[in-house]
Amino acid sequence: MTNEAAAHEPSLENLLHENRSFPPSAEFAAQANGTPDLYADARADRLAFWSRQATELVSWRKPFTEVLDWSQAPVARWFADGTLNACWNAVDRHVVAGHGDRVAIHFEGEPGDTRTLTYADLQREVSRAANALAALGVHTGDRVVIYLPMIPEAVIAMLACARLGAPHSLVFGGFSADALRSRIDDAGARLVITADGGYRRGAATALKPAVDDALAPRDGVESTVEHVLVVRRTGQETAMAEHRDVWWHEATEVADVQHEPVWVEAEHPLFILYTSGTTGKPKGILHTTGGYLTQAAYTHRYVFDLKPETDVYWCTADVGWVTGHTYVTYGPLVNGATQVMYEGTPDTPHQGRWWEIVEKYKVSILYTAPTAIRTCMKWGSEVPAKFDLSSLRVLGSVGEPINPEAWMWYRRVIGGDRCPVVDTWWQTETGAIMISPLPGVTHAKPGSAQVPLPGIVADVIDDEGKPVPDGGGGYLVLTEPWPAMLRGIWGDLERFKDTYWSRFPDIYFAGDGAKKDEDGDVWLLGRVDDVMNVSGHRLSTTEIESALVSHDAVAEAAVVGALDETTGQAVVAFVILRGEAAAALEATGGDQDAIVAQLRDHVGKQIGPIAKPKRILVVPELPKTRSGKIMRRLLRDVAENRAVGDATTLADASVMALISTGLNKPK
Ligand code: WTA
Repeated sequence: MTNEAAAHEPSLENLLHENRSFPPSAEFAAQANGTPDLYADARADRLAFWSRQATELVSWRKPFTEVLDWSQAPVARWFADGTLNACWNAVDRHVVAGHGDRVAIHFEGEPGDTRTLTYADLQREVSRAANALAALGVHTGDRVVIYLPMIPEAVIAMLACARLGAPHSLVFGGFSADALRSRIDDAGARLVITADGGYRRGAATALKPAVDDALAPRDGVESTVEHVLVVRRTGQETAMAEHRDVWWHEATEVADVQHEPVWVEAEHPLFILYTSGTTGKPKGILHTTGGYLTQAAYTHRYVFDLKPETDVYWCTADVGWVTGHTYVTYGPLVNGATQVMYEGTPDTPHQGRWWEIVEKYKVSILYTAPTAIRTCMKWGSEVPAKFDLSSLRVLGSVGEPINPEAWMWYRRVIGGDRCPVVDTWWQTETGAIMISPLPGVTHAKPGSAQVPLPGIVADVIDDEGKPVPDGGGGYLVLTEPWPAMLRGIWGDLERFKDTYWSRFPDIYFAGDGAKKDEDGDVWLLGRVDDVMNVSGHRLSTTEIESALVSHDAVAEAAVVGALDETTGQAVVAFVILRGEAAAALEATGGDQDAIVAQLRDHVGKQIGPIAKPKRILVVPELPKTRSGKIMRRLLRDVAENRAVGDATTLADASVMALISTGLNKPK
């Protein structure tokens, strides 16, 4: 295509049109933390706005005088001459303010064991843990790797590191010994905190052997780790290496319950979190203290309308992901919230487990991922209907674009048609929520993250870097620095610049496709790597998937572009049917022709002929990463009849075999 032609081609087609809109109820708006003024304030003076958030929501040892230093762009410095401690902000200051008796964490183990930790309990536990870490030689600036199940010690360990100014790096408990070792090596970690095991799907699963394996010399090279602290969770047989391994309970039992936090500068590293992109080695995303805490607390307060005295908040994410960092550990605790923490899987021992937990703790704010919502849709509305969900008042979604039908289901079945749904767009790199409706203010649209939060500046631009008009599609970018932005990739400044700042000069490129609708609201359209080109039209996978999910028979869909001789790429869809439709298909002996024809027609009607999948395959499962994102790359391999590529980051390695077997089944 010539440059001239390219200038007239839309960067991404705008396919779906959504007309439903849900204004906030007068009752909700009257009590909401968010107000239209917040947008006006931020627009009037953005830096003054952030300065106010940092002062009101975070406690400083030494107040800052400078808000933003962007002279070393793209590495920002926020509130740089202030000092503070993240753990003090999350724990001690609430006790000092007289809220020591407030529950910080209601823990629910998968086997049904429970623990309640008040803010005063947390203060004792984090102080003990910080003293224990210091006794094992952890100093300010040392890196600590945390490899734990979803148990309170995970949060306590993170906070104990923060208390010492020792950056933590969490590695999700589902990752292998190799993944663990490469992260330990990259961060040069001095200590690992792990557990004997955890409970998942009704069984005790060992964790410690993976640590032993990870720390064994590789090609004769020792790891940098000196000690391993081991939490006893399951009580299973656990080998302990002499001089290296120490039981958490023994180390903390003898530790003092007083600990003076280390006051660090605002730009002191708080954590490194590795993201495994589609290519290259994982990137160690670096976050620092003051700006990160400010945006974590601000977004948690306004996006979820948090009332710390009365709300019970529950974010279902694992602490091993960024969502667990910002919306299990730092955001809620800095805001003094009461939260639920659940160890296990949503269907252990039954498919209503989550809803049973909502009923039991009277959860009022729920934050989860589209993949979980679609799974619950597949299980059927009867499951949540058995529980009392009337305590809920705000629902959040994160991790992937949420299909409008999944959004509607979430609102209707879980939220009883009364709770605002907030679709929150952000990334490990952004540190905290960037684009989201504000409950009580925004007229919500199913499937759209809608507007940058007050203080955040985002846009959708075309190939040439020009903002697209309303109704147009292109690339999502962030055009002004924000407090919780990543400060780099650990040890690799060049890669940081290359990855995020080189596609469009001086603008942060998020890697996501997006469009603006007629009102200027933002719709996320998936990773740009997944965009398809069909007969010269750039189509997003998201909109075709949403069209498929809007059919009664479909619970989940994944769309990929497969090489095609005539159209360049052809749309190939993989769908999972809902309970009833799956049973009906079974009854016909698995003959997919009828349902496939219906679904193709449906997409044709919803979007137009261009988007009609050339092939639709009914499958029992979809390949997902451990954080629940669909791995379209592997489906492209199947659609193009190639051997399936590297599937090591799949949550369930057997899924690809299931899909391929399903395809080969004789008709
Ligand atoms: C995707 C998770 C659409 C997006 C917090 C982003 C979303 C990537 C949404 C970051 C959303 C996250 N709508 N897409 N509400 N939230 N994403 O680093 O592609 O695990 O770039 O952070 O998830 O994933 P990460």
